[in-house]
Amino acid sequence: MGIATSPTLDARVINFIGRTGKILIDGKWSEAASGKTFDTYNPATGEILARVAAGDRIDIDRAVKAARKAFEGPWGRMTSSDRGKLIWKLADLLEQHLEEFATLETLDNGKPLTISRVADVPLAVDLFRYMAGWATKIEGTTIPISVPYAPGAKFLAYTKREPVGVVGQIIPWNFPLLMAAWKLGPALATGNTVVLKPAEQTPLSAIRLGELITEAGFPEGVVNIVPGLGETAGAALSAHPDVDKIAFTGSTEVGRLILQAAAGNLKKVSLELGGKSPNIVFADSDMKAAIGGAASAIFFNHGQCCCAGSRLYIEQSIFDQVVEGVSNQAKKIKVGPGLEPDTQMGPLVSKEQLDRVCGYLESGFSEGAKATAGGKKIGNQGYFVEPTVLVNTDHKMKVVQEEIFGPVVTAIPFKDADSVLPIANDNIYGLAAGIWTKDISKAHRVAEKLRAGTVWINCYNIFDAALPFGGYKQSGWGREMGKDSLELYTEVKAVCTML
Ligand code: NAI
Ligand code: MG
Repeated sequence: MGIATSPTLDARVINFIGRTGKILIDGKWSEAASGKTFDTYNPATGEILARVAAGDRIDIDRAVKAARKAFEGPWGRMTSSDRGKLIWKLADLLEQHLEEFATLETLDNGKPLTISRVADVPLAVDLFRYMAGWATKIEGTTIPISVPYAPGAKFLAYTKREPVGVVGQIIPWNFPLLMAAWKLGPALATGNTVVLKPAEQTPLSAIRLGELITEAGFPEGVVNIVPGLGETAGAALSAHPDVDKIAFTGSTEVGRLILQAAAGNLKKVSLELGGKSPNIVFADSDMKAAIGGAASAIFFNHGQCCCAGSRLYIEQSIFDQVVEGVSNQAKKIKVGPGLEPDTQMGPLVSKEQLDRVCGYLESGFSEGAKATAGGKKIGNQGYFVEPTVLVNTDHKMKVVQEEIFGPVVTAIPFKDADSVLPIANDNIYGLAAGIWTKDISKAHRVAEKLRAGTVWINCYNIFDAALPFGGYKQSGWGREMGKDSLELYTEVKAVCTML
């Protein structure tokens, strides 16, 4: 465990990863009921980073019971103003520990520290603050009703938005802390209680967040954190008969398993799944901005973004220039361990992801694709792969149709807006899309036709706590962030009184 002796690391981080990560249930930290643990790895070296309690069915059941008790107890009785203050306090604490969380995130996930510092942690802080404000603004409406079969009668009818109840949340490893915030923020603002299961590749920041949740003063059992494997802890949570709603971010494949598991008690389900997002560059764009934008659309977070701009469509007349520009940028990216200050791209999160991405590269090459940048894994230590640009691809190839979830973009020429739209939309996913042009009407005409939950015009990967995010088609159900996310965590009750 080389990290534990690193002289440059914050002592709090070293201390934290040196302890076995525990399970938070009903405000108390414990081992797993089975006593089992699992290892989380440092993807920059492949070495074991920390050991964490492996929660399973029994722990999930205890956590759900604690969440139910808190929902029916002190949390349910708390004023919305007090609830908002607690969420705000959590944001303050997280901000005070920004450096510690950024380091943990980089160690566990591999992403550059510079990114964890300016993106992951501040976005999580901002999300909690945004949601804290909503706690006091969850309103219903008064509705004039006519009731044709009750002539002359007078009614007062109104709606209330009530919390759904006990919510299970299962999150992935690409933005471990931020995904915890996206899930916890709206659930808590609307008054639910939670059992959160972080990804087994990256459980550390969620466990540390659990400590801050306790420190902030949330009543016991409001947030329970159960690290563990997907097939055991995750499956038990999604099938649990006393969970009212399950929120999931991850693969489309597991999204389907979650749906099946949820069928037992027909719990509500929201899903944020895969993507294969088209990024369309027109000849009348600001080409310098489009090249930079196309490169960061795919290479940000090493391509491990559900909304990565992985299908780059370029108008024929500027195809060669844009491919050359993006390829040059790809070649210049400094790939290395996330903790090194000049690193721009870190390792992929796991050996499994490295093998998956390399498998896609092989499949592309075997079908005739050519790399104008990158194309292979780097070295034998850690899970590094070169930022890659593929050309000579065909619409039906796996590398064009399937989510690679790595720093690999396919560049494809097109003739005009009418011909690119059907191709851009011909994919099972519909999470995001990008458009680069100076022609405002064309931009909005194309935006209207794209079947995607987010469309970025002359920008890419712009996220904000106020902006809803989620997918069309097989990219998911429901929206996260923004006002829309509150709907996923509330039930509408209609109350009707005869006066
Ligand atoms: P995954 O979908 O298996 O993992 C995501 C979460 O689901 C983790 O917390 C995991 O423990 C949990 N999980 C796994 N199996 C489960 C089950 N049977 N029941 C309940 N929960 C379960 O994703 P994985 O295997 O880590 O990555 C595979 C691919 O999924 C990636 O290559 C990428 O294409 C996609 N993915 C998409 C993400 C997104 O942001 N939409 C995030 C992570 C992965
Ligand atoms: Mg999996």
